[in-house]
Amino acid sequence: MLGIVGGSGLTQLANLGVSHREITRTAYGEPSGPFTFGRIGCQDVVFIARHGYGHTIPPHLVNYRANLSALHSIGVTRIISVASVGGIRPDMAPGTLVVPHQIIDYTWGREMTFQSGTDGPVKHIDFTEPYAENVRQLLLNAAQQTGEPMMNGAVYAATQGPRLETAAEINRLAQDGADIVGMTGMPEAGLARELELPYAAVCVVANWAAGRGDSAHAIQFDHLETVLHTSMDRVRRLIAHLCEA
Ligand code: HPA
Repeated sequence: MLGIVGGSGLTQLANLGVSHREITRTAYGEPSGPFTFGRIGCQDVVFIARHGYGHTIPPHLVNYRANLSALHSIGVTRIISVASVGGIRPDMAPGTLVVPHQIIDYTWGREMTFQSGTDGPVKHIDFTEPYAENVRQLLLNAAQQTGEPMMNGAVYAATQGPRLETAAEINRLAQDGADIVGMTGMPEAGLARELELPYAAVCVVANWAAGRGDSAHAIQFDHLETVLHTSMDRVRRLIAHLCEA
């Protein structure tokens, strides 16, 4: 079964033949909302909206552990995360779809591990390659087959939010080697790895990051919503193709 975690602009999958919805509780508390079970083509899919269905949960308060632990217990075998990001690199303009290959984590104060320190020896997971290459390839192949322009590879900077960054912070992230910036990529990817769940992300560049492109003085929010809307339709089509292939 394929798990899809939808971000801003993707609170449901229109092409999902819904069979039922289920509220799942976990040892880590409640996930962001009910899970929607269904089918796309002959692929079983379960969907959850990361920020809740009414988009009420800010990035720093998402219960990432509950979401991931529930997906694991439901029997999901791979996860696609859909996330909106700001574009830092000059070729990552609003409207770009990109499958990142690396992460730099700037978040703090989040519950970022399943390791409680009470159940046996500490396990240090390998996180050299934070995304599962086979799931990345699923996304890239689907893009290629549908003629959807999709960039392969980006360094994702995970910031704390919920405020957007300052122009100086974005300059620092660029110097660190970051190409795109978002607020939810971590600890989600790390928790998936702890559970040994193959995980990859498709990121939609919704805006220029602070101080870049036409965001030299301020982020254009009205433009952001429009870009997100049309880009998420492209992501929906991509996921449909990936499931039907
Ligand atoms: N910064 C951080 N997160 C984001 C942005 C941004 O500019 N755009 C969408 N998510």
